[in-house]
Amino acid sequence: MGTLYAFPYTGRNGLIGRWNRVVRRWQRGGVEDYALLGGRQQPRLLPARHPDESLEVSEPHIHLPGLPEAFAGYRIVHITDVHYGLFLPLEAVADTVELANALEPDLIALTGDFVTFSRSCIEPVAIVLGRLRARDGVFAVLGNHDFRVGATAVARALRREGIEVLRNRHTMLRRRGQSLYLAGIDDLRYRADLPRALRGVPAGAPTLLLSHNPGIIEQAAAHRVSLVLAGHTHGGQVNLPFFGNVYARRRGGMRFKLGWDCLGATQIYVSRGIGTVVVPVRYRCPAEIPHLRLLPATRALHPPVYPRDVAPDGRTRCTSST
Ligand SMILES: [Fe+2]
Repeated sequence: MGTLYAFPYTGRNGLIGRWNRVVRRWQRGGVEDYALLGGRQQPRLLPARHPDESLEVSEPHIHLPGLPEAFAGYRIVHITDVHYGLFLPLEAVADTVELANALEPDLIALTGDFVTFSRSCIEPVAIVLGRLRARDGVFAVLGNHDFRVGATAVARALRREGIEVLRNRHTMLRRRGQSLYLAGIDDLRYRADLPRALRGVPAGAPTLLLSHNPGIIEQAAAHRVSLVLAGHTHGGQVNLPFFGNVYARRRGGMRFKLGWDCLGATQIYVSRGIGTVVVPVRYRCPAEIPHLRLLPATRALHPPVYPRDVAPDGRTRCTSST
């Protein structure tokens, strides 16, 4: 059975029961270590302890060449595709906020699709997301659904709640005199302008990019962005045996549409997100809150990855220089 997010809330398979299982799982750990260097050129994926979990806190460790020492161990909670509305009640958004805050991250990144198709949903979801807390703040970009419903209204509501909305611009995070750049762009199919967002970022400076749509990967790689955080695909949302999902049917399959991948010197993490669209169901594709930890890499990735060298599991091999 898929997950009907709207109900029930109580009982073992209710939202509260699922949330408790997620917290327990998080407390036990469950780390995905994307160690590109030191002889481990493939992501090391520890097996999921509960493959049937309907909401998962993943813990990707991302090794970034050039990461300033002051940002070693920097933790980011990534929330995307909340889609507050008919299929996801406000209580579920509040639970997500509570879980994110319990992780006590350095930064929270929101990568769009806060609503699905109703302007009346903008204000309530912004108020609940306004309770998010992180040491360096909460940053957001807008998704395609936000543009359809009203980009200006969504951005205004988020800003009113203290969330910094990055619309084709960047900001600088500072720690002990060292800098990490954080850029954000509008949705790729609307007003995304990556060159504008990166204007003023020094060449070679470590840079994170928030983009709703992972389709920005080739542009990001051309600009040598360090890491892209994206959503949009919902991980396919409904993943049928043999048939797969709507994204897997397209050219390129699930490349750059789910989890970790890289292109050239640019790494990307695509979350399965929180909510649903079209149908209120997830099947073999649990919702996800990535809790990323940035770690330094001692050697640079080998540029570029072209031509694509795709591993048997569908991931691109990223090689390190020797
Ligand atoms: Fe979405």
